[in-house]
Amino acid sequence: MSSNTPSSTLSPPALSSPVLKPLKLNSTGLGQSTTSKEKPAPVSSKLQAPTLSTLKLSTPKLSSPKLSTSKLSPPKLNFALGGSSSTKSEKPSSKLSAPKLSFSLGKSTPKVTIAPAAWSPSTTPLVLVKRELETHDSMSFTFAAADQAQFDFKPGQFVTLAVNIDGKTHYRAYSISSVPQQKQLRLTIKRVPDGLVSNWLADNLTIGDSLSALNIAGQFNSSDCKHKPKLLLISAGCGITPVMSIAKTLLAHNSDADIEFLHCARDKDNVIFHDEMQTLLAQHKNFNVQLLLENSDGFASFSANTDNPSLSHQTGMVSSEVIQQLYPDLKQRTIFLCGPVGFMKAVENIAQESDFDMANFFQESFTPAADNKQQDQLSLKVSGVSDVATVMLYVPDFSVEKKVVQGSSLLELLENNGVPIIGACRAGVCGSCKCKITKGEVKSTSSETLTAAEIEQGFVLACSSTVDGDLTVALS
Ligand code: FES
Repeated sequence: MSSNTPSSTLSPPALSSPVLKPLKLNSTGLGQSTTSKEKPAPVSSKLQAPTLSTLKLSTPKLSSPKLSTSKLSPPKLNFALGGSSSTKSEKPSSKLSAPKLSFSLGKSTPKVTIAPAAWSPSTTPLVLVKRELETHDSMSFTFAAADQAQFDFKPGQFVTLAVNIDGKTHYRAYSISSVPQQKQLRLTIKRVPDGLVSNWLADNLTIGDSLSALNIAGQFNSSDCKHKPKLLLISAGCGITPVMSIAKTLLAHNSDADIEFLHCARDKDNVIFHDEMQTLLAQHKNFNVQLLLENSDGFASFSANTDNPSLSHQTGMVSSEVIQQLYPDLKQRTIFLCGPVGFMKAVENIAQESDFDMANFFQESFTPAADNKQQDQLSLKVSGVSDVATVMLYVPDFSVEKKVVQGSSLLELLENNGVPIIGACRAGVCGSCKCKITKGEVKSTSSETLTAAEIEQGFVLACSSTVDGDLTVALS
């Protein structure tokens, strides 16, 4: 469990004059940040000389020379992400049932409050109550339980939505970006190029719509991952989602936490939660944010003033030098990292090269498959073209006996053939796609959630396995 004990009290904002401090960094770039979770940019070992913008904004605790005081204008989010909504947010749905009662038994008796029940996904659907554009291609969806139950989860976890599209149910896991013990649950979702579910949600899900979901899960969370009082949260692109939940929860419940947050994005327009991070900066002296932007053109207009601190940012890419200069006390911190696979590998390498104690290093990558279109195309090849290497897939329990393309994703093959397997994270970290190879072999890139005994028995993670030869599969 976390070393931090949540309380129900939120510290009042500590607003005061923020100042700017030039950052003198002489580092060069190693990895490449990207805002695409699904298609991480390649990580280069070549260092690029970043044009280090020296705008250091932060909370008043820094003794820095005051610079520009131009007022930061909030981004104008007046563009549409999907066809169903052209506004930043919409009114709550009227489809929700009445909340549970809180009542008093009179002056002479203590006030009796009925604690809200915990949300049960098996019985209660989620109802969309708000849509908010975060960037041009990412959107936050806020849900309430149809029975007004409270959402209990561990900061950093995800929920798997069951989305029915054209009569077929698709399961996708999305990280939670809100804090626990509230009656609303916020998911922040980035469009995936050619992605079936993410684009469908952005284009079709409207206020009042209901969705079924599976249990909230995920081992990457600040409750189960023991952490020090000093933390370094690192994210890139949409990987900011679970990390933001961790940061907000710690800030709300643990004023002693020393939280540094490094977020990487392509440019200012691709920074998810920019305004929200500014608000947190203004409220919490124990919270610092650095933005590392590949391209900061135009970002110089963001500066600090007495009312509205802006975010520290630099131009460049994550590198050992940048990390060491920004966080000289790195070894005293616990790292929580989330982003595209290539980005995360670069940060992991940096940590290892810095002799960081990897027992204090926690990471998670959600890299969902674009969708099943690729597999559909492969299926067409199988049926019409003879020069594609094929193998046989058998799933006796579901009467599947089919010729498939060798090298295909086992998860997509099972999904496309009606096998009710759940691919939640699609990145080999959640374990939801566990299945058993009873005959034949697959090539696997991850067995992270499997025990040695399960591996011995033939279990694999379908999302991380490709079909190599004739194969017989069972779900248990
Ligand atoms: S879908 Fe999560 S491990 Fe495969």
